[in-house]
Amino acid sequence: MTISSPDIIRAAGISRTFGKGAGAVTVLKDVNLSLPAGRLIAFKGRSGSGKTTLVNLLGALDRPTEGTILFGGRDIAALPERRRDEIRRGEMGLVFQSFALIPLMTALENVEFMLRIAGYPAAGRRAAAAEALEQVGLTPRMHHRPYELSGGEQQRTAIARAIAHKPKLILADEPTAELDSRTGLTIVKIFRDLVQQGLSVILTTHDPAIMEIVDQVYELEDGRIVAVH
Ligand SMILES: Nc1ncnc2c1ncn2[C@@H]1O[C@H](COP(=O)(O)OP(=O)(O)O)[C@@H](O)[C@H]1O
Ligand SMILES: [Mg+2]
Repeated sequence: MTISSPDIIRAAGISRTFGKGAGAVTVLKDVNLSLPAGRLIAFKGRSGSGKTTLVNLLGALDRPTEGTILFGGRDIAALPERRRDEIRRGEMGLVFQSFALIPLMTALENVEFMLRIAGYPAAGRRAAAAEALEQVGLTPRMHHRPYELSGGEQQRTAIARAIAHKPKLILADEPTAELDSRTGLTIVKIFRDLVQQGLSVILTTHDPAIMEIVDQVYELEDGRIVAVH
């Protein structure tokens, strides 16, 4: 039986041009995407193909030059910056290649700090942070600082930070690029588990082993989606 799921995010006629006049570079060209909710989706493509640019647009970190991006029934491309910030902080979770943890804070404090920025009620922060760290299997290490954690543990902390406020969508740009391939796979398995629990995850990668365990792969080439499998 196939259950059709609604889309978590939909992009129509997206282009992104950087710069103006003779120096203008068009990095994304007429990208159209309808990404179903509750899936683990990968954007694949060579370096420079436009993956980061696309993730930044879907995550409301950047605006398209043309086109619409529907998320939760709104065109986030057209909303004022403040609303975009609210939506990103409240309904999305971002994970980066570089982990981007605060060095002086423990794993738990890093997650709590992000909850504070997201406007999460103070009284529930500690419990929500601890729960998120448990979801990524990091409870035994939660009082350690980043330099005391392995790369994989640091990335798991960053994932906990991205999920603690219970977003609908996780966007992860090359989340395994700084990890060895075995550790990278354990990270993707965490995303698999989160999808099992109802989250939608979009990640970028060029690791062929990762393509095997995602639900759908969108292949980018020179700023266009050239294949879906
Ligand atoms: N702010 C920017 N100004 C000009 N060119 C950019 C900018 N950001 C990205 N690009 C260019 O866009 C292309 C795609 O970049 P990117 O989205 O980072 O690709 P990927 O993540 O697939 O490696 C590259 O050629 C890059 O140099
Ligand atoms: Mg990139």
